Amino acid sequence: MTQTTADSPARRQRAQIKERTLRTDQWWRYPLITFIIFTAFLVYATWAIFDTDYFVSPYHAPFASPCLATSCPPESRLFGFAPFGDWYTLPPGLLILGLPAGFRFTCYYYRKAYYRGFWLSPPACGVNEPHSKYTGESRFPLILQNVHRYFFYAAIVVGLVLAIDAVKALIGNPTGLGTWILIANAVLINLYTLSCHSCRHITAGRLNHFSKHPVRYRAWGFVSKLNAKHQELALISMFSVMGADLYVRLVAKGIINFPFA
Ligand code: FES
Repeated sequence: MTQTTADSPARRQRAQIKERTLRTDQWWRYPLITFIIFTAFLVYATWAIFDTDYFVSPYHAPFASPCLATSCPPESRLFGFAPFGDWYTLPPGLLILGLPAGFRFTCYYYRKAYYRGFWLSPPACGVNEPHSKYTGESRFPLILQNVHRYFFYAAIVVGLVLAIDAVKALIGNPTGLGTWILIANAVLINLYTLSCHSCRHITAGRLNHFSKHPVRYRAWGFVSKLNAKHQELALISMFSVMGADLYVRLVAKGIINFPFA
C-alpha cells in the first residue's frame, strides 16, 4: 500500500468536490459581519490618524498615544519626551501606529477572522475557497506572521502607556466621563494583551515541572483563563479603543463639553 507523507503530492492536492459546500446553514454570516466590522475599524483608524484633535487636557486619544513628535502639545507628551524633532511633519499617530496595528494584524484570532472575511481562505469550515493553491503560513509572505511574539512585547509597552494616560486623566478630572472611558479602555486593552497566546507561552509554555515554578504556574493559570476569552477580548477591546479615541476627539472638538465630559 502507498504511504502518504505530509509533503507527498497526494497530501498537497485539494479534495476534488464539485459543490462549493454541502453546508445548509448561514455560514456566510461570520465572514460578512467580520468584513463589515473590520472595514469600519480601518476607515475610522485612517480618519483618526490624520485628525489633529487628539488631545484635550487631561485626555489623550489612544490612537495618538504616546505622542512622540515636537508638534505634540507639551502636556500631551509622555514624561515630556519628544524624540522626533521639527523635521517630522507627518501626524504623530503615524509614528506608533505600526505597533498596535502589527500586534492585531498578526494575532491568531484576527488572522482567522480576516483570512475568512477578506481573503475567503477559506470563508468558513467546509466551504471551498476561490484560490487554487493553499500553502498556509509555511512560506513567504505569511511566514512573517511569526513575528507576532515580538509585537506582543511592544503591545505590553503600549498597554502601559494607555494605563498612564488613564491615571493622568483620573488625576486631572476624577469625575469626568472621559476619565472612566479611558480607564475602561486601558483595562480592556491590557486584558487583551495578557490573553495573547504568546503571553501564555512566555509565561510557562516551556516548563517541564510546574511544581518547581509555582509563581509562573499561577501566572500561567491566570493567563490561560484570559486566553480562553481571547476572541471576545480582541473584539471588545477593538470597540473600546475606537470608542475612547472618538470620545476624546469629540471633547477636543467641543462637540461634547466639560464639566461632564
Ligand atoms: Fe491574539 Fe497574541 S494571539 S494577541
